[in-house]
Amino acid sequence: MSDIAVRVEDVSKLYQIGKRARHDTLRDLISEKMSDPFQRRGSSGAEESLWALRDVSVEVEHGEVLGLIGSNGAGKSTLLKILSRITEPTSGRVEIRGRLGSLLEVGTGFDPELTGRENVYLNGAILGMKRSEIRRRFDEIVEFSEVERFIDTPVKRYSSGMHMRLAFAVAAHLEPDILVVDEVLAVGDASFQRKCLGKMGNVAQTGRTVLFVSHNMLAMEDLCDRVVWLRDGCVAEEGPSGTVVSNYLQGSFSADTEQVWEDPATAPGTDDVRLRRACVRPEDGTLQSPITVRTPFVMEFEYWILRPDVHLSPSIALYNEQGIVVFTSGPAFDPEGSERSHPAGLYRHTCRVPGDLLNDGMYQAALYIGSNGRTVLQQDNILVFDVRDAIEMRHGWHGKWNGVVRPMLDWSTEFVEAEPSPASRPESRRHWEVPQ
Ligand SMILES: Nc1ncnc2c1ncn2[C@@H]1O[C@H](COP(=O)(O)OP(=O)(O)O)[C@@H](O)[C@H]1O
Ligand SMILES: [Mg+2]
Repeated sequence: MSDIAVRVEDVSKLYQIGKRARHDTLRDLISEKMSDPFQRRGSSGAEESLWALRDVSVEVEHGEVLGLIGSNGAGKSTLLKILSRITEPTSGRVEIRGRLGSLLEVGTGFDPELTGRENVYLNGAILGMKRSEIRRRFDEIVEFSEVERFIDTPVKRYSSGMHMRLAFAVAAHLEPDILVVDEVLAVGDASFQRKCLGKMGNVAQTGRTVLFVSHNMLAMEDLCDRVVWLRDGCVAEEGPSGTVVSNYLQGSFSADTEQVWEDPATAPGTDDVRLRRACVRPEDGTLQSPITVRTPFVMEFEYWILRPDVHLSPSIALYNEQGIVVFTSGPAFDPEGSERSHPAGLYRHTCRVPGDLLNDGMYQAALYIGSNGRTVLQQDNILVFDVRDAIEMRHGWHGKWNGVVRPMLDWSTEFVEAEPSPASRPESRRHWEVPQ
């Protein structure tokens, strides 16, 4: 028997925009009614079509954890909906071996008028569970979902977080052979996200197959064996999670890890000074190597001094995504300092930033060159780069680590004493003791 759990062969999906979709399956109809109970019948805009997926082929082996990544609109949800038979492909073939449980966007699968309890049964039935099976797992599902108090409330009164929690609990406890999860990490608080990831990990460990979409690249790298990157409906790349995630991140924002000005006549600057080059790279790596929160890295700035005897002093400011200046820095103070004049020629300043200092995120550096107390050259966004999170030290937690910086501080833990004995308790505590 083949080891393939899911086979997607040359699947394409064409959506008609502005035209009501044909109901390919009963689930299609049900889910559309559930997600949009007030459908505007007969509305028709300009009819346009859009290929949400084009010739996508993917195979997933039994027991494999496959991640799907890609920017918004890349076709990830469409692929998962096709696998879950919520919608049909326009062309191509899908083969599924085993029972498939899925958790898709909020709104698919739950009837807003029914209570949480009724929806658990409805969902279980849609997903192929027997009533006795659902009954047996009901308490566990409800406990996992943390919505006990609202289980007899119609789900239309649920927040999207509660909705998602219950839907995840149902999908995960169905004991599917194949679990398909779309963006669960986007909803819910940190502790629930952790619980979901843990549950997906458990499902995977018991040899079942997991396919999931997430924007959390750390979770992708940590949990997935393999990742498929979808771009504009096509497979851009597939392979080991670390490699694909890295390429996706490199390509998904316009990093400027190097800028070179070939012609001094047009380079930013003045008659005295012209920029030549700026770059940022790991201390022991190339421009292409990733920088993580743990990596020491260097920023290099080269400029021409065009006339002798000018007094120049460079400095930089590093901004984070929120526009906060994380630090400003310049070469160490030199007693002769800016009073010293430099011969004309090419200069390179290298600023070394230690690892375990910055938090993850996007950064931009601005370069300032001062002369006699004045800024003669200011170049904002001279470098734009991403500091990625590192998997080490996270202990299974994938949320955002709070803080402008992320230093690795020295902690020590000592065993001070065993449970305090009455004799060793300070006098002042005595009056807290309960009288016998
Ligand atoms: N029911 C639909 N009707 C028309 N277009 C759709 C429909 N669902 C998704 N699309 C379009 O298909 C493309 C892929 O969408 P989707 O699969 O949701 O992407 P992703 O999940 O990667 O963000 C998008 O351009 C989206 O607007
Ligand atoms: Mg989506």
